[in-house]
Amino acid sequence: MNEVQIIGTGSYAPLNIMTNQQLAEIVDTSDEWIVSMTGIKERHISQGENTSDLATKAALSALKDAGIKPEDIDLIILASTSPDQFVPSTACIVQGNIGAVNAMAFDISAACTGFIFALNIAMQFLRTGKSKKALIIGAEVLSKIVDWTDRNTCVLFGDGAGATVLEAGIKKGIISINSASEGQKGGALTCPTVDVKNTFTKGNENFKATISMDGKEIFKFAVKTIASSISQILDENDCTLDDIKYVVCHQANFRIIEFVVRKLKADKDKFFVNLDRYGNTSAASIAIALDEMNKNNLLTAGDKIILVGFGGGLTYGASLIEWTMNK
Ligand code: ACO
Repeated sequence: MNEVQIIGTGSYAPLNIMTNQQLAEIVDTSDEWIVSMTGIKERHISQGENTSDLATKAALSALKDAGIKPEDIDLIILASTSPDQFVPSTACIVQGNIGAVNAMAFDISAACTGFIFALNIAMQFLRTGKSKKALIIGAEVLSKIVDWTDRNTCVLFGDGAGATVLEAGIKKGIISINSASEGQKGGALTCPTVDVKNTFTKGNENFKATISMDGKEIFKFAVKTIASSISQILDENDCTLDDIKYVVCHQANFRIIEFVVRKLKADKDKFFVNLDRYGNTSAASIAIALDEMNKNNLLTAGDKIILVGFGGGLTYGASLIEWTMNK
């Protein structure tokens, strides 16, 4: 079996930033409520760019970081809750945009755990030698499917994309990965199917297809699964949190991360946070965080990090990684 390592990261977020103050002009909310309840201060909101546009820019940035050409990629997996359309897949649109002519490309749907699921799937291709270089992308234009009249949800989300290039070889970068689903709890976070105008017709009424969520249920699920996923992956690899440089959770809510820190009696500085500037970008959040850490030189070869995702489905998963890139 091959080993698998990360050889490049990239990300992109729309230039347009929406602050909490701007949101307070649309719905009955305040900067104080949003910051104290979520930690989010602002988010990037697309003005016309679709999910594939963001994904393409993140992908090109990751390929540049890896120092490889699009033709070198033989697998593209794109995770998204807000794909451009049913067919073609957003992964195929990105493939066409970047000219990755030698790749098999497909989308997956695992909500905010999408990037971890994509990593897990890519691992199977890379370890068995079916693929040599894979591009995995988490990309979202959630602003398409947010109900901008619902203060319970619209304050939480943002748009963005992150991409990672993986390579099969002898360096063991991805040490371990777990992922799981609890479909029986799927009703806690839903978004119905949309047509091209983001509406579907029910009877004579036009409904906007938007995200709805049982916030408290998701909060409890998140704290429980993040803590247990971290403990499980540490135990499986005979590690403790002392061996870990950073934990990168899906960026949903700062209070979720605080609860996990308390539950695990962990050092809060180990938990990377950028949700204050992005909000919850679902499948993109972990990949964007990884790219920020990489580009800001927070990671050195040999550092161990844990990625943890949780989200709609319900789904969750974690990966223990040894950073192998030397800049
Ligand atoms: N501004 C002002 N007030 C608000 C807002 C808002 N944006 N949203 C809700 N409120 C009000 C409610 O109406 C309610 O008022 P009431 O007491 O008068 O009825 C009060 O604030 C408390 O609302 P709750 O919904 O009970 O607040 P809660 O403590 O559950 O916090 C929150 C809400 C922040 C959404 C929390 O449930 C949460 O973070 N859950 C996690 C969900 C999450 O992160 N989802 C992201 C998508 S899922 C994923 O990524 C996996």
